[in-house]
Amino acid sequence: MNEDQQLRNQAELEVKANQKNIIEDAYYPSYHVAPPVGLINDPNGLIQWNGTYHLFYQWMPFKTGHGSKFWGHLSSANLVDWTRHAAALTPSDWFDKDGVYSGSAIEKDDQLYLFYTGNVKTDDIRDAYQCLATSTDGIHFEKEGVQISVPEGFTAHFRDPKVWKKDDKYYMVIGAQTIEEKGTVVGFESFDLKRWEFNGVLADGFGYMWECPDFFTLDGVDILLFSPQGLESHGIDYQNVHQSGYITGKLDYQNWHFDHGDFTELDRGFEFYAPQTTEDAYGRRILIGWMGVPDQDEELHPTHENKWIHQLTLPRELHVRSGHIFQKPVEELKDLREKTLYDGDVTELLELDISRSAEVNIHEIDDEKLHIDLFDYATIDFNKSDRTITLTRPRLDGNGLEKRVGKLREPLNSIQAYIDHSSLEIFVNDGELVFSSRMFAAVEDKGLTVKTNARVKVYALRSMIGR
Ligand code: FRU
Repeated sequence: MNEDQQLRNQAELEVKANQKNIIEDAYYPSYHVAPPVGLINDPNGLIQWNGTYHLFYQWMPFKTGHGSKFWGHLSSANLVDWTRHAAALTPSDWFDKDGVYSGSAIEKDDQLYLFYTGNVKTDDIRDAYQCLATSTDGIHFEKEGVQISVPEGFTAHFRDPKVWKKDDKYYMVIGAQTIEEKGTVVGFESFDLKRWEFNGVLADGFGYMWECPDFFTLDGVDILLFSPQGLESHGIDYQNVHQSGYITGKLDYQNWHFDHGDFTELDRGFEFYAPQTTEDAYGRRILIGWMGVPDQDEELHPTHENKWIHQLTLPRELHVRSGHIFQKPVEELKDLREKTLYDGDVTELLELDISRSAEVNIHEIDDEKLHIDLFDYATIDFNKSDRTITLTRPRLDGNGLEKRVGKLREPLNSIQAYIDHSSLEIFVNDGELVFSSRMFAAVEDKGLTVKTNARVKVYALRSMIGR
């Protein structure tokens, strides 16, 4: 048996050995993507291909820490129910032996092309290769080896290729660090996805490393998403260890010049990083992110005891309004609604027993204030005087509380919250602000409290089929 097959089999054995404990873990999500065992981080290769959505992810099957990553693989007909497949790519070759790192998917001539970074570390010296794997059936992937090496002027922190097509050319953006240790995103172009020409820097200006870039045009605006490292926290901004956000503008493809505005964070929650998007057959721009952040102590997540850690966000549809990205859970997620737990007007106070798989919708908010309490763990508060929303939870190390704050441009009119065992995703004003966070509330606590005057609908949600 070759090394690739051996690694894939070892990963499957690890899944089998731990499956029962993991599925029975009260913190394991029922409708979010989480690792079958081990650690999940970035979503990779998100694409709708021949009508089926494929989602790959950074996967470490053997421990709840980082290391030589695999590409885990799921597919779905509806973005709600995901079927797991064996690992698509394993770290089995000299050019990816220390990790099949993040990347993207694109279709050409009925084949699926996966571009990823091969991570290689020898005696603490790092190398990075941009590699290709192709598939004709969307299940088995043939590695085609190194396509691009690190150009002069950059360190080996050169990774996470995202590829797209415009007119008759293909383009690739890569997250990079210059030898002066400045973060940047660079680009390449190609006519055939095989021979790539270096176009140079697309954007830079702050931080020491930019990871996981993504570039697309939406509602007439060119957008570069990326996850910069090394930003100092500033007021309510940049509160997480590393950030994730976007700049918008106009790309002059001929001169490879991106005229753009300031950096805006995509999510205001405690755990969000390395999102990736795709355009589906309906023309929707869909985003999925990692509901985690790098460099967080894994032992602080109680789930590590059951040999799994982290999860992804729900798929969100993006739009640009007044220059800002709005993110809404995709329409298909309404299919998760199994039972209506509450549907009516609330004057001042609603107290409801809800379980850990629920959706809470608060509309027509007609009050100066709003306060939500979830399971005696997380609170959400609105302050009308400065239009801020504050999410508060206990610190993961148990020492007091921590907060994340977002500021609305519009008056508050709606809140939609998805609760899934140990996660909370809050969409404010149809996605003007989003907070993605893990939530390790005591398992017995069942309560939802809402203090405001509004219309409220609460649903119990089903599990995804294929979980
Ligand atoms: C972002 C990241 C990527 C890298 C991958 C490795 O979370 O560090 O830059 O490709 O994770 O798992």
